[in-house]
Amino acid sequence: MRPSRTKSKNILLGVCSSAACFKALTLASSLVKKGHAVKTVLSPSAAKLISPQLFGAVTKNEAFSEQFNPSLVSGEGHISLSDWADFYVIAPATANTIGKLASGICDNLLLTLAVSRRGALFIAPAMESRMWKNGFVRANVSMLKKSGVKFIGPVTGRLASGSTGPGRMSEAEEIIKNLPL
Ligand SMILES: Cc1cc2nc3c(=O)[nH]c(=O)nc-3n(C[C@H](O)[C@H](O)[C@H](O)COP(=O)(O)O)c2cc1C
Repeated sequence: MRPSRTKSKNILLGVCSSAACFKALTLASSLVKKGHAVKTVLSPSAAKLISPQLFGAVTKNEAFSEQFNPSLVSGEGHISLSDWADFYVIAPATANTIGKLASGICDNLLLTLAVSRRGALFIAPAMESRMWKNGFVRANVSMLKKSGVKFIGPVTGRLASGSTGPGRMSEAEEIIKNLPL
């Protein structure tokens, strides 16, 4: 077998509560199959839509969603998770999380990790077109881009509502092409 050209990376995957959060499982699975280590953090709302245990099963690493999870508080705290990661990718990212990031808000673990991270932050937004086009969201995206955050997508396509327009989350392979692997 030919040796892989890419070195294994430690990747923190943030998952927000979007209708596209099932695509984050494909992303996690593809990264693991390529030999990378993935640890997942779900926003508390995302953990209501999709089970953290599913990400645990796919990545073979415990998936976190609670900022005050006892095992995090006494063991692998947010700083050690930040130190572990080569970079952080939030996919899907909601309008809510993008807005909080633009203000440096840290009221859940996913956000705290973004603000305490050492490496690059990649964001793959997912939302309905009217949200993506909204002036608040535009200003927050622009602010984050100025801070060096890298956006992957969204693309124009079919949305959860059934309509078509900008706001569809990029597919896993497209996200992977844009990561420093
Ligand atoms: C089924 C469902 C799908 C949703 N999809 C999206 C979405 O794709 N994008 C978005 O910005 N918000 C979406 N929302 C709204 C967010 O879940 C809501 O704004 C939430 O507060 C975001 O929390 P989080 O950013 O902490 O994950 C959805 C809500 C529900 C119930």
